[in-house]
Amino acid sequence: MKKSVKLGQTLLKNNVIKGEYVRTAAQPIQEVHSPKIQQGQQEGLSSKLRSQLDKKNILPFSYFLTDKLGRQHDYLRISLTERCNLRCTYCMPEEGVPLTQKSNLLSTEEILKIAGIFVQQGVKKIRLTGGEPLVRQDVVQIIQELKKLPGLETVGMTTNGVVLARKLQDLKTAGLDAINISLDTLVPQKFEFISRRPKNTHSRVMEAIDKSAEAGFNPLKINCVVMKGLNDDEIVDFVELTKHKAIDIRFIEYMPFDGNKWNTKKMVSYQSMLDIIRTRFPDILKIEDTPNDTSKGYQVPGHAGKFGFITSMTDHFCGTCNRLRMTADGNLKVCLFGNSEVSLRDAIRSGSSNDDLVELIGAAVKRKKPQHAGMTSLKDMKNRPMILIGG
Ligand code: GTP
Ligand code: 5AD
Ligand code: SF4
Repeated sequence: MKKSVKLGQTLLKNNVIKGEYVRTAAQPIQEVHSPKIQQGQQEGLSSKLRSQLDKKNILPFSYFLTDKLGRQHDYLRISLTERCNLRCTYCMPEEGVPLTQKSNLLSTEEILKIAGIFVQQGVKKIRLTGGEPLVRQDVVQIIQELKKLPGLETVGMTTNGVVLARKLQDLKTAGLDAINISLDTLVPQKFEFISRRPKNTHSRVMEAIDKSAEAGFNPLKINCVVMKGLNDDEIVDFVELTKHKAIDIRFIEYMPFDGNKWNTKKMVSYQSMLDIIRTRFPDILKIEDTPNDTSKGYQVPGHAGKFGFITSMTDHFCGTCNRLRMTADGNLKVCLFGNSEVSLRDAIRSGSSNDDLVELIGAAVKRKKPQHAGMTSLKDMKNRPMILIGG
């Protein structure tokens, strides 16, 4: 078991957070005792006082965004829309999803208000997701406004790349810092099968990747969900792509979500992906990851790019999780795989103050589980389809 989780469980047993937690590269969550801060983080402290301490930056990191394991959530993923211009089998159920009526989706103003509250509490990175974030008309405006929030360091986006090439310049001008693009196959015919959209769409994604690199997005991350019998024969070809392209290909273990027909036989573990890659590139090197990376990074010596594995199923990274999620209909999800959600939209629309919202967020964060339930349990648990979460 990971050290950070063990530490957290001890804390949970005592039901009190005893100190300040700081992250270092060597040790993801480390306990540092400080009597002053200890007092500030006691469960019994009045919410008003906690809020005041927090605002004055006396606490090392927001009390409200710190969970009972000491995980500091400084990364927010905001889903901008439930719509998508692809219908990937691993993400969108065959029958589609019932779409939330527009009036129940977060407006531009609500998104910016919520983002502002999180950033004020210490969020440093926001990633825009979907559905496909670029189908939302106000996406450029949202980025422009997010970039004005003091304290926010990075605004990223995860996109399927289909309409990216023609929006790239506007996104760049608005201040977008990072792009992750989904690409599961290098074969147009397979793209059609996986995405349930015409095969010529594939060339638009490939063009978007090249244009994004030219526009200076570095690292440029490519997400490849690996499914047995579908695209696992292309793993080596993807690694080959890193020879001349400065891209970071992340092979993602296929994860179960509602309606995506997941089963263990379709999942390819990262260990077996590594074995496949080593048959062609025996001297691959492990590269250092940053503390909250989802991906375990590797490189073929001499290649311009790198590759990695997102191992949520066979080797989860919940102990270093720093992520929270907002769904397009305004629910806060504290875990990708957790089905407990709280509606910030309803709270805003019923007139909650910013302090009330911060309390609501804090209570949800404190309920965050140490880790997800494990792949065999997850496939039977109720969650949203991936398209309604945003990854
Ligand atoms: P960075 O922000 O660049 O670190 O990218 P990311 O890997 O967090 O985000 P991206 O949207 O590119 O997601 C790639 C894959 O990682 C998707 O399959 C996500 O579902 C998965 N992923 C992202 N965040 C989490 C997380 O908190 N937990 C788990 N288990 N998987 C995650
Ligand atoms: N398993 C793993 N990754 C998934 N994604 C979508 N659905 C799944 C799934 N079932 C990935 C997409 C996208 C990112 C946001 O999530 O490839 O790049
Ligand atoms: Fe974080 Fe949940 Fe993902 Fe684990 S499964 S890393 S706790 S979002």
